[in-house]
Amino acid sequence: MKGSVVVTEVQSAQQSQFVTLLQEQVAYEFAAHQQYIGLAVWFDANDLPQLATLFYRQAVEERNHAMMIVQYLLDRGIPPTIPGIGPVRNDFNHPRQLVELALHQEQDVTARIERLFKAARDDGDFVGEQFMLWFLKEQVEEVASMNTLLAIMDRAGTNVFHIEDFLSREDVGAETDPTAPRVAGGAL
Ligand SMILES: [Fe+2]
Ligand SMILES: [Fe+2]
Repeated sequence: MKGSVVVTEVQSAQQSQFVTLLQEQVAYEFAAHQQYIGLAVWFDANDLPQLATLFYRQAVEERNHAMMIVQYLLDRGIPPTIPGIGPVRNDFNHPRQLVELALHQEQDVTARIERLFKAARDDGDFVGEQFMLWFLKEQVEEVASMNTLLAIMDRAGTNVFHIEDFLSREDVGAETDPTAPRVAGGAL
């Protein structure tokens, strides 16, 4: 009898709105990873190595975000499901289109993270709410850095090599965050 009560509790935790959205978020983070690989390779193929480096690095960050959520689910005794991912856009004809796509992707993720935070709060899941705080802060940075990149791109106009110069001087996105949640299998 006692055993069945425990099972019911685990099931209700699995069925919470927050956990459902969190499982979905793993897929969005992996999709972001794959799309950023696509952007990085496009920049690489178009002889823009600094932009390529930036997006190769962003891709790894997204992969780490996915695996942070996986670690959280493991820690809370909820078996994570590793999802497949959808199509990736590869057809671009100007660098601006790629940065625009990245900015929209980050804005979309920010909305999802806010929804997750609210779901945790609505579920009375304080641990979940606390877990989402780091992601909220991270999204502020990600949206800001893509906005900056887009502004620099517009200022550079037709000479995209100005952007390469800027990135080589600034070393954008190279810092590590010691407050980041644990990554399943270790951060890359
Ligand atoms: Fe992310
Ligand atoms: Fe991101």
